[in-house]
Amino acid sequence: MMNYFYITTPIYYVNSKPHIGHVYTSIVADVLARFNRISGKNVFFLTGTDEHGDKIVQSAKKLGKTAKELADENSALFRAILPEMSVEPDRFIRTTDPEHVKVVQSILQKVYDSGDIYFGEYGGNYCLGCERFLTDSELEDGKCPQHRTEPTHIKEQNYFFKMEKYRGWLIDHINANPDFIRPQRYRNEVLGMLREPLDDLCISRPKKRLSWGIDLPFDNDYVCYVWFDALINYVTGIGYPGGGHFSEYWGAAQHLIAKDILKPHGVYWPTMLKAAGLEPYKHLNVHGYWNIEMAKMSKSLGNVINPLDLKEKYGLDAFRYYLVRDMVFGLDSNFSEDAMIDRYNADLANDLGNLVNRSLGMLNKYYGGVIPDADESDNEEDIQLRDLALSSAIHYRSRMKSIEMQNALAATWTLVSGLNKYIDKSAPWTLAKTDRKRLGSVMYNIMEGLRFIAVMTYPVMPDASKRVLAMIGSEGSFDMDSLNVFGSIRAGVKTREPKVLFPRVEKLETLEVVAEAAKTEEKKEPLNLIDISEFARAEIRVGKIMSAERVPKSDKLILMKVDTGEERQIVAGIGKAYTPEELTGKKIAVVTNLKPAKLMGIESFGMLLATDTEEGGLSLIGFDRNARVGARIR
Ligand code: ME8
Ligand code: MG
Repeated sequence: MMNYFYITTPIYYVNSKPHIGHVYTSIVADVLARFNRISGKNVFFLTGTDEHGDKIVQSAKKLGKTAKELADENSALFRAILPEMSVEPDRFIRTTDPEHVKVVQSILQKVYDSGDIYFGEYGGNYCLGCERFLTDSELEDGKCPQHRTEPTHIKEQNYFFKMEKYRGWLIDHINANPDFIRPQRYRNEVLGMLREPLDDLCISRPKKRLSWGIDLPFDNDYVCYVWFDALINYVTGIGYPGGGHFSEYWGAAQHLIAKDILKPHGVYWPTMLKAAGLEPYKHLNVHGYWNIEMAKMSKSLGNVINPLDLKEKYGLDAFRYYLVRDMVFGLDSNFSEDAMIDRYNADLANDLGNLVNRSLGMLNKYYGGVIPDADESDNEEDIQLRDLALSSAIHYRSRMKSIEMQNALAATWTLVSGLNKYIDKSAPWTLAKTDRKRLGSVMYNIMEGLRFIAVMTYPVMPDASKRVLAMIGSEGSFDMDSLNVFGSIRAGVKTREPKVLFPRVEKLETLEVVAEAAKTEEKKEPLNLIDISEFARAEIRVGKIMSAERVPKSDKLILMKVDTGEERQIVAGIGKAYTPEELTGKKIAVVTNLKPAKLMGIESFGMLLATDTEEGGLSLIGFDRNARVGARIR
């Protein structure tokens, strides 16, 4: 069992088109599948579409289509977006697949025969969006809290599954397996649902009201309730009851969902499995919502961001990186293109991109691109780097296993910045003149560090990872176990010319918006008091002066290159108060979203903040702690 890994996404409703929320779950599943594959496991990754039920029929009706037509169209869209996102499942299942229909009917029959399905009458509040009855305590002001609509009261004769019968068993199972449902908050939430007796689950719909579903094998006048049908896809997908991979993979099953469908997965599904004589799944992994302006994104609420646009603008690797890095698994996150650009420039363009670029640049310059031999001395810096690489790989693996991908990436980035520091400290450019032997060791270690980073970034950024491995001459070597040893990259291997991995992104749109706002502001009467939102229009950031020189023929102007998370050129009139030498290396406050200005014919992209001194001179605004370059000042 240790050698198997089975991961599923929810099967998505075909009444909508894929948006960033669906894409997030699919990408996370893909990240986990890739991680487990390079960890040597046999992996099966299942995704697909959920096609029956009232909701699909009603959407189709509005569009003047049949349910089947709508299902075919939208299922195709969900399928087509996967390769666009480099999501590579082993199977894409549809609940209209004949094989699935048979499996659902066989499980219905089995549970019916064992006496856990009975016929009865029930009335209750049905939410069409959720496709389930809501209990009184779930309603907020009489409405479904998720869809913000009033449920319909439905009373009819139906078949019921004896869910309450298994409540005690499920509580015991959850208590005996602390990470059956994770993170913890959702385990507690499910235990909360199980505190009160459960209503038995209505598992049928009379055909005279709804015929778009799977026929009950024991009563032709009814179709199966959509959730009872949908959940079963997880066993159909791996070939239940026989023939496929069911026996190997089921014991290693991990579901991935968002919190909107916790109850069906945390309560219905395990009790259904129990009644059908099947083992429960191994883990239910639950994430939060991507919100836009704090409302959960969904088609019905109308605020949707197109993943393909983001891919085109920033590249797929960067998009996947942002989604995985910026959501704490289990909690909600706010989607912001601005935050995405910040991440991109800081982590990818700056930290990782520059690291790869300068490392290979130096290797080319000093060794014609061929990896040199390391000498065997036990230099303190080398030992520290090796220990950092090994420990970050260990952290990475354990965080991946506990589904904290954001922390796995953070562990990778401790090595990225550790390697950058190693380069700064050992200063290969100096060694090139003074100590060729030491230079060889340093360059070898840098290349080995890059290999570690490339392998660890593979699950999230498969393409960038492949490119880095190809550049350092280690293509194809994706293997987590190769990170058990630091020092396995081979000397003598020819590397390739570095290519820019992540070109910087400028926030042009932000600049334009601010410039426009400033124009309209000018026309208004001056006010003494401003709103916080007006202050927030000014983007002020921590900058580090990388270089400074006097502007010829001016005693006041200094021309600087300043790193504010992106490199910018700034001209400032501080030449009487500061020399270029004392400016270089200083951290200062910079207004970064001013319209560019020209001073003595030189363009300036930003303004340094300064104030008067007691002596009548100038003082730049600095920081009393080690401020992070590029951080926003608020
Ligand atoms: O519920 N943030 O399908 P569905 C994060 N067919 N994830 C989101 C999201 C958001 N804003 N919006 C959607 C169904 N998701 C059923 C499932 S399974 C047997 C049947 C993702 O199309 C997330 O994974 O409404 C969520 O659980 C799923 O899409 C719901 O997809
Ligand atoms: Mg939904």
